[in-house]
Amino acid sequence: ERFEMQIAIDGPASAGKSTIAKLVAKQLGFIYCDTGAMYRAVTLLAIQRDIDFGDEAKIMTALQNAEITFKPGETDQLVFLNGEDISLAIRQPDVTNNVSQVSAHPRVREAMVAKQRAIASQNNIVMDGRDIGTTVLPNAELKIFMVASVEERARRRFAENQRKGIETPLATLVQEIEARDQKDTTREVSPLRQADDAIRIDTTALSIDQVVAKILDLAADRAN
Ligand code: CDP
Ligand code: CDP
Repeated sequence: ERFEMQIAIDGPASAGKSTIAKLVAKQLGFIYCDTGAMYRAVTLLAIQRDIDFGDEAKIMTALQNAEITFKPGETDQLVFLNGEDISLAIRQPDVTNNVSQVSAHPRVREAMVAKQRAIASQNNIVMDGRDIGTTVLPNAELKIFMVASVEERARRRFAENQRKGIETPLATLVQEIEARDQKDTTREVSPLRQADDAIRIDTTALSIDQVVAKILDLAADRAN
């Protein structure tokens, strides 16, 4: 059983996926689901339990003994670990720089994909991530592959960090983003790639509103 529309948004780090997915969901009255937050939560769990990021078996045991819950909403998604709100903690650099190693483990992915499909089966949804169009929701009505130049993505992350009071040099951000893209596109299980039926949107020179308008147009087309 499924609802009328699933919108899948994939792409590399800082292409604008979550910002735009949230706005599109709000406009359409759909649920927004940030799948990256799930892999970030598992990474935070590994950090808290002092588990080696390469130790899939230990990570899976910790995951089975922990309660990670996602409360998707129209504007934001809250993430809880054993009842504690970790929505902010999962954005810290420590998590960001290790999440690609954790998310490459096949059993971690299997567990998260099951959660993602369960949420999507209950709601009209905009879901963002790396493998939504290719693996999680292969039958989504609308698939977007969002890209932007690495320089522009680093500038966006830099501006975002400044607002949060985080001071990482721009050149470091470029390196971090490239390293994460490299890991995400080359892993064995569901690597980041554009689905054959996805529409590519390069947001390098586009404003947030322009990208939102484009996706709403495409969604309206698909609904007819
Ligand atoms: O927002 P940002 O681009 O920094 O990343 P994110 O969407 O929060 O995703 C963090 C990491 O989780 C990615 O770099 C991937 O390693 C992993 N991820 C994934 O493997 N599959 C997804 N569907 C979503 C995220
Ligand atoms: O989810 P993802 O990592 O793909 O990117 P994001 O966190 O939504 O966007 C990264 C930053 O770029 C945010 O601060 C957005 O406000 C900004 N952004 C932008 O300046 N122009 C766009 N067209 C899209 C996003």
